[in-house]
Amino acid sequence: MTVVSAPGKVYLFGEHAVVYGEPAVPCAIERRATVTAEPRDDDHVRVEAQDLTLDGFAVEYANEPDERSAVDVPKPLLDAATGYVDAAVEQARDAADAPAAGFDISVSSDIPLGAGLGSSAAVVVAGIEAATQALGEPLDRRELADRAYQAEYDVQDGQASRADTFCSTMGGAVRVEGDNCSRITAPALPFVVGFDGGAGDTGELVAGVRTLRDRYEFAADTVEAIGDIVREGESLLTDADPDADPSAGLIGELGELMDINHGLLSALGVSSRSLDTMVWAAREAGADGAKLTGAGGGGCIVALDATDETATSLDYTPDCEQAFRAELATEGVRVEEA
Ligand code: PMV
Repeated sequence: MTVVSAPGKVYLFGEHAVVYGEPAVPCAIERRATVTAEPRDDDHVRVEAQDLTLDGFAVEYANEPDERSAVDVPKPLLDAATGYVDAAVEQARDAADAPAAGFDISVSSDIPLGAGLGSSAAVVVAGIEAATQALGEPLDRRELADRAYQAEYDVQDGQASRADTFCSTMGGAVRVEGDNCSRITAPALPFVVGFDGGAGDTGELVAGVRTLRDRYEFAADTVEAIGDIVREGESLLTDADPDADPSAGLIGELGELMDINHGLLSALGVSSRSLDTMVWAAREAGADGAKLTGAGGGGCIVALDATDETATSLDYTPDCEQAFRAELATEGVRVEEA
């Protein structure tokens, strides 16, 4: 039995603009998906999934379509539990040249689903690593990140960037610009996440930004301005000592850039009332900065606050269903049990 975990992520800067070739900086957070893989004697895949939302649910089924449809959970959740795992198994079979390999897989996760925290990427990364390790064919990290991207790309009909899968594989802060992905140094930033309990439709939100950008030159300029924020933020991060606690000055400057980044995302139409309410609750509680993370439309915000004030204030904000501190995950994918 092989047990592997992989982290979720927040976007410190750059979502949406990354779609048009601007850089983005996602950061892995200590919220993980854990996948257990045990090879079987036949070519079946059996998946058991639990806690895939913060409320938690369990579903168990064999890999036959008729049994799958008998499970009484909402289809998007079932797809999340199964589609990504199936894609991960396909990648592992291909990598290990074992097209008929079967597995018993179990998945658990404490990353809110579809809410801008990279839940599906974490499941895919941990799934491919668990299955290839279980077959005795471990992958190097670059290949793992690449295969995880392919798996997400297939499941999401081409609507995936490399950001989530690369970040989940490598951990820490990363820089993504088109197909170029690299790790960058960053100190341990005091992230606080607020989750409104919902999720946006990534495809629709990306299409909305594309329409604005095509129609108005100033919307295209807004996308470029987000790229400028990312470059500014990146140089602040790489100049800082990654082993020292980040200074109040650094957190303040990063926070200011996050605030501007949120304003520009809002101008591009991808925020929502609940995201804005949580952003303002964080700012009024004294956060150094706050912005939505991911596609937007609903889901999560990320704030910087070294104190407990932001999390406490979000706990009392009706639009916020869950608030939690999220440490930077310096380790990406990790074998927990070989
Ligand atoms: O919601 P997430 O974490 O999947 O992020 C979407 C980020 C976008 O830039 C809007 C789209 C993308 O694939 O980069």
